[in-house]
Amino acid sequence: MTDHSTAAEQPPTTEDGGAALLRWLREKGAHGPVWRDEEGGAVHVFSHEHAGKVLADPKTFSSDMSAAVPDDVPNFIEGSLATTDPPRHRKLRQVVTDAFTAKTVASLEPRIVEVTNQLLDHVSGGEFEFVETLSNPLPVTVIAELLGIPISDQPKFRRWAEAAITATAEAQVGEAEFQINEWVADQVREMQEYLTDHAERRRKEPTGDLMSRLANAEVDGTRLTDNQVFSFAADLLFAGHITTTMLLGNTLLSLDENPAAAVAVRADRSRLPDLIEEVLRYRPPVTLTHRLTRQDTTVGDLDVPAGSLVVAWIISANRDEQRFPNPDVFDIDRASNPHMSFGHGIHFCIGAPLGRLEARLALNIILDRFPDLALAGKPDYLAAPGLFGVQTLPLRYTEA
Ligand code: HEM
Repeated sequence: MTDHSTAAEQPPTTEDGGAALLRWLREKGAHGPVWRDEEGGAVHVFSHEHAGKVLADPKTFSSDMSAAVPDDVPNFIEGSLATTDPPRHRKLRQVVTDAFTAKTVASLEPRIVEVTNQLLDHVSGGEFEFVETLSNPLPVTVIAELLGIPISDQPKFRRWAEAAITATAEAQVGEAEFQINEWVADQVREMQEYLTDHAERRRKEPTGDLMSRLANAEVDGTRLTDNQVFSFAADLLFAGHITTTMLLGNTLLSLDENPAAAVAVRADRSRLPDLIEEVLRYRPPVTLTHRLTRQDTTVGDLDVPAGSLVVAWIISANRDEQRFPNPDVFDIDRASNPHMSFGHGIHFCIGAPLGRLEARLALNIILDRFPDLALAGKPDYLAAPGLFGVQTLPLRYTEA
C-alpha cells in the first residue's frame, strides 16, 4: 500500500442532508471527472463513465480491503463477498446466489407484509418515529430470519449495527485504515463469537437457512474458515439491513419534499418502482465505494500507481449530467435511470431484489394506512462518511 505521510482531505458527511457534500463534489469535479488528493494520495472518481470503468475492472481495482482492519480485532471483512476478488469471488457468490434471485425473494413477500403490518399496528396517537418503528426492525427481521438467527437476539444486532455505524463514522474517506475504538472492538468480538457458535450449530444440524449454507459451503474443495463464515454472515447482516433502513427513510423524505410525486404514487401504486429508483439515484444510501489498485493504471487522464486507493463516488455518478438530464431535479418520470446505487460489475449488490421488494411492499402499506403522512420535525441524519440516511425521522398523520 502506498505510504502517505499527510492526511487525506475529508469530504463533508451528509449530516446536513447532503448539500455540503454535493457542493464539495461539484467543486472537486469542476476540473475533470477524476481528481487526485495530493495530500492523502487517494484518487477520487466523479463521473458515471469513469466510476463504471473502475467498478467493471476488478483485476486492476481490487476490493480486498482486509489489510485495513487492525490486527487486534477479528478481521470482520476478510472473506466477505464484498471484499473478495476474482477468481474466488464468483465461486463464493455462487454459494448464496440462488437465495437472492428475484424469484426466491418474491416468496418472502407474505412475511414482509406481515412483519410490516405488525410493526405498524403499534403506531397510535398521530405521531411516530419512523426508524425505530419500521425502517430498522423490518429489514433486521427479514435478514435475521434468512440467516436463521432467533429474532429474540435482535437487540444484539442493533447494538452491533450501531458499532458498524460508529466505525464508519470514524473512518476516513481515502484512507485504507480503520480506526476502531475499544467499544467497537468489543462488539466485533461478541458478534464473532455469536455468529461462529451459530455456524457451528448449523454445521452439526443444517436447516436449509443461509447460515447452514455458509457453514457447510466448500470453495475449491475447501470449507470456509470460521473467520470467513463469520465475516460473510456479518456482511449479509449489515449490508442487508442498514442500507434498506436508509432507503426507506430516504423515500419518506423524498415524498415529503415532492408532493406531486407523492400524489402520483398514491394514485397509482405501479409507480412505486419508479419512485424507489429515483430515491436510490437522488439519495443513495451508500455514497461511495473504495478500491485498491493492484497494478499501475490510468483513470481518465490520470496515471495511478499500484497500491493507490480509489474512491468511486456513487452519489456523484448518479448526478452526472451526461447521463441524467437535470440531475439535481427529483423526477420519477425519468426515461432511464442507470444509477449506481447498487454498485456495478461483479460486486453489484446481491441483495438488490430484496431491498427493492422490502421498500415497495412497506411503502405500499404505509401509503394505505396513512393518507396524510408528513414530517413532524427535523430529521436527524447519520454523520458517517459513505452512508446517506437518517437515524431518526419524526412523522405525523391524522388519526381516523
Ligand atoms: C453490494 C448497496 C441492500 C447485500 C452492494 C454494493 C452497493 C450496495 C453499492 C456494491 C459495493 C461495492 O461494489 O463495493 C445496497 C443498497 C441497498 C442494499 C443501496 C438498499 C436497499 C442489500 C441487501 C443485502 C445486501 C438487502 C442482503 C440481504 C450485499 C452484498 C454485497 C452488496 C452481500 C456484496 C456483493 C458482492 O461483492 O458480490 N450493495 N445494498 N445489500 N450488497 Fe447491497
